[in-house]
Amino acid sequence: MSGVSRTPADLPGSGRTAVVTGASSGIGAATAERLAAEGFDVVLGARRLDRLTALADRIGGRALPLDVTDADSVAAFVAELDQVDVLVNNAGGAFDAKPVADADLDSWARAFDVNVLGSVRLTKALLPLLRASGAGDVLFVGSTAGMVSYEGGASYTAAKHGVHTLAGTLRLELVAEPIRVIEIAPGMVRTDEFAVNRTGSEEAAAAVYRGVREPLVAEDVADCIAWTLTRPHHVNVDLLVVRPRAQAAQHKVHREG
Ligand SMILES: NC(=O)c1ccc[n+]([C@@H]2O[C@H](COP(=O)([O-])OP(=O)(O)OC[C@H]3O[C@@H](n4cnc5c(N)ncnc54)[C@H](OP(=O)(O)O)[C@@H]3O)[C@@H](O)[C@H]2O)c1
Repeated sequence: MSGVSRTPADLPGSGRTAVVTGASSGIGAATAERLAAEGFDVVLGARRLDRLTALADRIGGRALPLDVTDADSVAAFVAELDQVDVLVNNAGGAFDAKPVADADLDSWARAFDVNVLGSVRLTKALLPLLRASGAGDVLFVGSTAGMVSYEGGASYTAAKHGVHTLAGTLRLELVAEPIRVIEIAPGMVRTDEFAVNRTGSEEAAAAVYRGVREPLVAEDVADCIAWTLTRPHHVNVDLLVVRPRAQAAQHKVHREG
């Protein structure tokens, strides 16, 4: 390509439409921005429409309100779409760090609703358009919490194990169809809101990352997502586990100072 300038039509995402859920912050926002730069038409969904609209305006995408836990909201969102080639099921989160002995059932239900059922709702609703695409992609943002368990993490690890099983099952069920099923499992990612939502305070959230020289940032995960989606369509990256160098395993985090 040296010496040849790329026009938008040459970009890997040209002519393709990507839906990104939870695009109002963190990994979802970085993914929407990166996919727009790769030439995709990006549809951004989340509950906070003000943030979504500001980002969509900046990157040339389309912002639509979406609550993945609400069937009516999902139906209204899908009704606005007539082409979808890529679905990035990113909306999610963790809402407590309690041992099972002190389990808060509302927090468990919330974690399952947004991470697991939310992904099922969007996937089910968009499968007809993904089939019509002829080259569809369903990408799940899982977590290393979906690979192993850790103390105090069960409401989230159980939900992300559910996302992992969902991705694996869908891949089996769609094997005869031109739809890839991809799972990205990040380790520690420093985003503005994730750990605050989980721990309930900025101070406790800061402690999660204390002394870790370079946690992943949202753009690192967006880079992985974009890479999997821009491979030739016969190449299905089933599962991509990505962690910061300072995190050799879930319980093995190098902290300085
Ligand atoms: N940060 C990490 O260390 C890490 C590691 C591994 C995996 N992950 C996963 O990566 C994904 C993104 O995490 P993040 O760190 O970027 O967190 P974040 O900054 O808290 O972003 C979560 C996004 O999900 C949206 N969301 C939450 N509930 C929603 C609902 N009911 N309907 C629609 N959207 C909803 C939020 O937008 P609204 O509030 O505007 O709706 C927000 O845009 C999650 O699935 C998370 O589990 C994160």
